[in-house]
Formats: sequence, C-alpha cells, structure tokens
Amino acid sequence: MNTFHYRDHTLYAEDLPLQEIAEHYGTPCYVYSEAALRERYRAFSAALGARTQVCYAVKANSNLSILRTFAEMGAGFDIVSGGELARVLRAGGDVGKIVFSGVGKSSAEIRAALDAGLSCLNVESAAELWRIADIAADLGKRAPIALRVNPDVDPGTHRYIATGLKESKFGIPMDQARDLYLQAAQHPALEIKGIACHIGSQLLDLAPLGEAATRVRGLYTDLATSGIVLEHLDLGGGVGIRYHDETPPNPADYAWTLNQALQGVSARRVVELGRALVGNAGVLLTKVEYLKAQGGKSFCVVDAAMNDLLRPALYEAWHDILPLRQSAETGHAMDIVGPICESGDYFAKNRPIVAQAGDLLAIMSTGAYGFVMSSNYNSRPRPPEVLVRGHRHHLVRRRETFEDQWALEEEPGH
Ligand code: LLP
Repeated sequence: MNTFHYRDHTLYAEDLPLQEIAEHYGTPCYVYSEAALRERYRAFSAALGARTQVCYAVKANSNLSILRTFAEMGAGFDIVSGGELARVLRAGGDVGKIVFSGVGKSSAEIRAALDAGLSCLNVESAAELWRIADIAADLGKRAPIALRVNPDVDPGTHRYIATGLKESKFGIPMDQARDLYLQAAQHPALEIKGIACHIGSQLLDLAPLGEAATRVRGLYTDLATSGIVLEHLDLGGGVGIRYHDETPPNPADYAWTLNQALQGVSARRVVELGRALVGNAGVLLTKVEYLKAQGGKSFCVVDAAMNDLLRPALYEAWHDILPLRQSAETGHAMDIVGPICESGDYFAKNRPIVAQAGDLLAIMSTGAYGFVMSSNYNSRPRPPEVLVRGHRHHLVRRRETFEDQWALEEEPGH
C-alpha cells in the first residue's frame, strides 16, 4: 500500500491531501495513517503466525490512539517504563501481553508491573533479578521473568542504537545467564518464563537477527537439559525500514530467518517491533519560512526544528523531504534547517529541493522516534499529532500552548 502518495501533483495521506491538514492544524504537525499502521501489523503477524506474539515497542510512538489501534488488533506491548505501562493500560492494552524491558527498572516500576499482572519482566542484571524477587516476595506474588541476554552480535547499525554487543550496557552476558537461571529457579518468588534478547534497531540485514536467535536457541536447549523448560523466546525488535533507498527485510523473510534459527523449538515466540510498524506510517509537516544564501551555501529555513524531530541531529539520520505540491522545476541543493540556535538543527544537507517561502514540505518516515523524542527546547510548543482515516482527519494530540509549558513550574516568591 502506498500510504503517502502524489495524486495530481498533490501529496496525500490515504485519501486526504496533506495540505488540508496543514491548513487546518498549522505547522509543524505530525500526521499518521491508521491504514498504514494496520497494514504493517497485519503483515508481520500473518507472516510470523499464531505461535508468535507481536508486541509493539511503545517507545517508537506512544500516542494513545496508536496504542489503541494496535490493542484492537490483538497486539501485545513492549514497555520500558512505568509511564509506558500506564499508557498501555489507559489505551486498553491487554496486560497479559505486556513485556517490560529496560536496564534500570526502579522499585516503583517493578511494583507497578507486578500489581498490574503483566506477562513478563525482561531482566537485565543479577542485581535487578534479586530486586524483583524481593518485591514479588513482599507482595506475596511470583514474578514472571525472562533474562535478557546479550548475544554479542554486531547488528551493523548506528552505534547509538546497537544494543547487543558485549561492551554495551544491555542484557546479561550469555556465559553468565545459565548460572543465573539456575539460581532464579530456586527462588520461590520467581517464575521463569523465557529468554529475551534485542540486538539493535534499524537492522537491514537479517543475518545478525538469525545469529542472535541461534544463540538464544543454544541457551534454551542447554537450560532444557538442566530441567528448566522455557515457555517463550523473545527475539526483540529492530527490523529496519526504508528511509531513502535501503532495502529493509520484508515480513516473510524475517519470519523465515527466525524459523530457520529456531527449528524444532516448541516454545512460543515474542517479537518487540517498533519502527517497522509505525516508522513509515507518519510524516512531519513543516512550512518554509525563509530562503537564504551565504558562505557559498543555500539554506531553507523551515518552521519545524530539532525539538520536533531529533533524529537528524542525533544520528545524522536521513529523512526524505517531499513538497506537498510537486513542481516541474529542477531542485536546487539546500540545507534544510530549523530555527533553533544550534548548528545541529537541520533535517537535510545539500538536498536538491524546489522551495519558496510559504511552501509546505513533508519530512517522511517520522512515525517512529519522532514525536516521542520531541522536547520544548527553545520554549517551542510541541506539535500536534493527527490521525488520518481514509479522507478524514482526527486530532489525537493538540498543539501545546505556551501556558502548557510552564504549567508545572512554581515561582518561590520573595
Ligand atoms: N525492544 C527493545 C528492548 C528495544 O530497546 C527497542 C528499541 C525495541 C524493542 C524496538 O526496536 P525497533 O523495532 O523500533 O527497532 N531512537 C532511535 C531508536 C532507538 C531504539 C531503542 N530500542 C532512532 O530514532 O533510530
């Protein structure tokens, strides 16, 4: 499905011209396509089959309407904080299908997770395991746990989003995991459910995912011979998407890779997909404020900034940038930059584009790690989020006001 496409030189989201949204809500503004979300979820869950629970990685985009859409489709959820737990519950997510990842779960978060009765805590260290055991014992419960192992596989992605290398802060080294499982099995307040791993994000090559799954299978088999039979294997997320000209894995090849690596393993499977489900379902609309030329360069200054979309500034990430109205003219190479007082505040460098002040642009593939990483830097109100359904638009988060920004502040007086 071509969610964002040109009809008569006008960029549409589903059956709605994006121009209408820009005029109605102003810019900058995030726009999501519900059909795209549904299509991606369906494609992955169909390819992976009934024995795999697709858990949506909430961190990619935690808007309640998006969570509700996935909840309605039967998704589980991968959360990393008490805030994400509260959001999933608020959006009607099934608590029995929530897995809780993250290296630094606080006691309050662990307690909230056990109180809610979620399906599994993915434990990232021995210290965390014993903290969970103490809290569960205190609550008179058994905590469902998986150890998140660090398979030491290089996923070949940006170093900030590679998580499965042995020098990274994530997970428990493979060679320590077995002993820790044996100790956990002795603890009355712990219920061993599975193994978890996650090696990184925006993975374009399936081989490292297959390699990690093979290593997880090795541990699964090893534990079975020690009498520890696991109910599920959680293979994490990380499936990449096309931002520019990449060829990302398709759902069928992804499923095939996992099936190959896990042949003969009867345990259920869990995956924690974020970007692959929402990344290409969203765009950020922005308006050109000014054109300027200096130092031998041309700049196109737009009204969105790094506070709205941090990925280019943080990872030098590429996002395609399309005009809402296509032009027959040839583009002129410009840096597309925001109004924030930092040189890192840019969306594209030397990008050929046809643009005049007042023109509207769409920064593509911003459904994942877009709004969720936004801030109020430079006291800029965060943008609204709009969900498109066919030819209709629905505001799913309003634009912040200036008052919203200081609503939590107190002045001590004299
Ligand atoms: N599970 C765990 C344990 C994770 O740490 C992550 C992402 C996921 C699942 C979901 O990964 P995905 O399927 O979305 O690749 N802000 C960065 C991405 C950070 C990813 C962090 N962990 C970006 O904008 O590229």
